[in-house]
Amino acid sequence: MLSAKRFSLLSCCLFILMWCHAQTKHQPDKALLKAIDQNMIDAAAQYKVLLQNLPAEKFPKTYFPTTDKYEFSNSGWWCSGFYPGTLLYLYTQTKDEVLYKEAQRILEVLKKEQFNKTTHDLGFMMYCSFGNANLIQPSAAYKDILVTSAKSLSTRFSPVTGVIKSWDGKPNEYLVIIDNMMNLKLLFWATQVTGDSSFYKIAVTHANTTMKNHFRADNSSYHVLNYHAQTGAVQQKKTAQGFADESAWARGQAWGLYGYTETYRETKDRKYLEQANKIAAFILNHPNLPTDKIPYWDFNAPDIPNALRDVSAATIMASALLELSGYVNKELSTKYFKAAETILKNLSTDQYKAAAGTNGGFILKHSVGHKPAGTEIDVPLTYADYYFVEAMLRYKAMFKK
Ligand code: GLY
Repeated sequence: MLSAKRFSLLSCCLFILMWCHAQTKHQPDKALLKAIDQNMIDAAAQYKVLLQNLPAEKFPKTYFPTTDKYEFSNSGWWCSGFYPGTLLYLYTQTKDEVLYKEAQRILEVLKKEQFNKTTHDLGFMMYCSFGNANLIQPSAAYKDILVTSAKSLSTRFSPVTGVIKSWDGKPNEYLVIIDNMMNLKLLFWATQVTGDSSFYKIAVTHANTTMKNHFRADNSSYHVLNYHAQTGAVQQKKTAQGFADESAWARGQAWGLYGYTETYRETKDRKYLEQANKIAAFILNHPNLPTDKIPYWDFNAPDIPNALRDVSAATIMASALLELSGYVNKELSTKYFKAAETILKNLSTDQYKAAAGTNGGFILKHSVGHKPAGTEIDVPLTYADYYFVEAMLRYKAMFKK
């Protein structure tokens, strides 16, 4: 049974999701609210299918509908936090103990990654999982794991480059991807709970350096920057997962939007809000953004309008836009809120949402992981599901009486 304490902490958790919407009031779309309630029930049922298909100690990565084959990962894969994170988000809606117990089981497998100093993805891996677990039921054990994770992540920061290293390269290379903005939340949290400002300083230095170097004049971002490890000079601006070095990879734009919105929330420094607004303008005013607002995998994919969509980019954008709508003037707020609504409505249709029992138990179809590498193309992905559920929670929380 769910304890009274856990319930009151759930309310606290929802409050945190709601607090950003204190400003402009929007009218709920009643049909969407109803669809969201059904989506939550369906998603919980899907994740019970998924959990039955997981080998021990493994994490879901993707599923190939045409061959009925799964791909799993170990705990070191950058996405390992999304599965427990989604289970926990769904648990806050359904109060289904099966989901909570499965989250507890997989967190035990994941917890060794707190010591992993070879990845910049510890924010994704540890905050989306243990961070959410700690919001639902705070514990000293979760806090220790999160603080150790923040310490591990901090070892990848260089005062010379002013950024956290994403990927290990050659000795002179210091490779940083826009995705890394998503790992800063873990550092902000660590300063809040420990009082040690070094985590906060690393996070804002990374955000500042990225703001200075990662963006083009049109406010789109490069995917990968190669800094000189010894001088900090930018040596190269390129892509890894996008169509071309000069193209706008859709998920990269989504990570930037979410990352700067979150950095504004954590710092209240308006320069980050301005950056988030600029990224939102790039995305929402782009002539290649389809009317259903589910982006092509790259805004400059050569085969638009026949290019594949990337549902994961859409879910990240929807969640970020709902939060950002709480920080801006009425006109912008309405624009962001409506765009997020459009995304959520479209993702709730059969076009994108999997039918019960299909899709290997994943919630959404049609994401693109790494097109240039030929991997995870037009498949379900754990992070598409995670940010979809988060965006729906944020939408619901805006209208909670
Ligand atoms: N590199 C993380 C992503 O695929 O978005």
